[in-house]
Amino acid sequence: MTAYPVRRLRRLRHSPALRRLVAETRLHPAQLVLPVFVKEDIDAPQPIASMPGVSQHPLHGLPAVVEEAAAAGIGGIMLFGVPTHRDAVGSGAIDPDGILNRAIRVAAEAAAGRLTVQADLCLDEFTDHGHCGVLAADGSVDNDATLEVYARMALAQADAGAAILGLSGMMDGQVAACRAALDAAGRTDVVLLAYSAKYASAFYGPFRDAVESTLQGDRRTYQLDPGNGREGVQEALADVDEGADIVMVKPAGPYLDVLAEVAAVSPVPVWAYQVSGEYAMIEHAAASGVIDRERAIGESLVGIRRAGAEAILTYWAIEVAGWLRDGRSLA
Ligand code: PBG
Repeated sequence: MTAYPVRRLRRLRHSPALRRLVAETRLHPAQLVLPVFVKEDIDAPQPIASMPGVSQHPLHGLPAVVEEAAAAGIGGIMLFGVPTHRDAVGSGAIDPDGILNRAIRVAAEAAAGRLTVQADLCLDEFTDHGHCGVLAADGSVDNDATLEVYARMALAQADAGAAILGLSGMMDGQVAACRAALDAAGRTDVVLLAYSAKYASAFYGPFRDAVESTLQGDRRTYQLDPGNGREGVQEALADVDEGADIVMVKPAGPYLDVLAEVAAVSPVPVWAYQVSGEYAMIEHAAASGVIDRERAIGESLVGIRRAGAEAILTYWAIEVAGWLRDGRSLA
């Protein structure tokens, strides 16, 4: 006699309507944030070769990007500046007329409260050596000297109108330093998003093209070693203690375990950054015809949400928001 299964887990997968009803993980446009590159001294958008579909934008093109993002209903844009001139200490980052601070002003005005304007708070786009901080005499990245620059950068970005500052430099104490500077200036309203568990990753490769940064050496003395999960959790908890409002894990896909562990213990929202290399891998594989582009994008984002991210920075934010608005199921 045949023994019939008692548990029939296929029952809930029978129809699209049932699958939609029992889906545990959903995406919403409000949980997506679009990274945007703004380049000084260009007249028209410049495509980024290693990131098909992504461009650097001229400052005057930014209102149109903001309009598109607002119409898509996404939660915000994360601005990156690509300056024409760089120097050893990244002066352009604290100059109110530096490209990033100008972009923040333009975006904040265009957004008019419809979405959050966020800014990358890091020196690598502004230094000629490409490191995320200033260098000591021996060539190493000087943690505490960098904190002073970050604090001034935080004030400049807050003045320009950024609602959320993305602290991505991985210096010890960066959250506390920026929080103290903002509080002292009466800017207790500014949200600090700490890139807490930011790994020294090959998946940032295409981003270097996007911001035209040529790094001398590597970032292994400040970004996390890919093998260390516990350290990522500790970084997140330390950032919460220092006053972070949101913590982030980056990259996302290769670090879903870290994301889940941080999500399990964090008292503040947890976000993830699906980085340039994760984007490029799917775009290039899809262009070669080896995977279904839309399904792969959807699955990658649902996976990041399932692992515990409440919001996701992704270069597909606007496109995916459109799919969600059309009621398409994503994975
Ligand atoms: C630092 C920063 C980087 C990225 C975001 N912020 C580069 C790095 O740390 O090497 C990478 C983002 C991506 O790859 O999409 N300013």
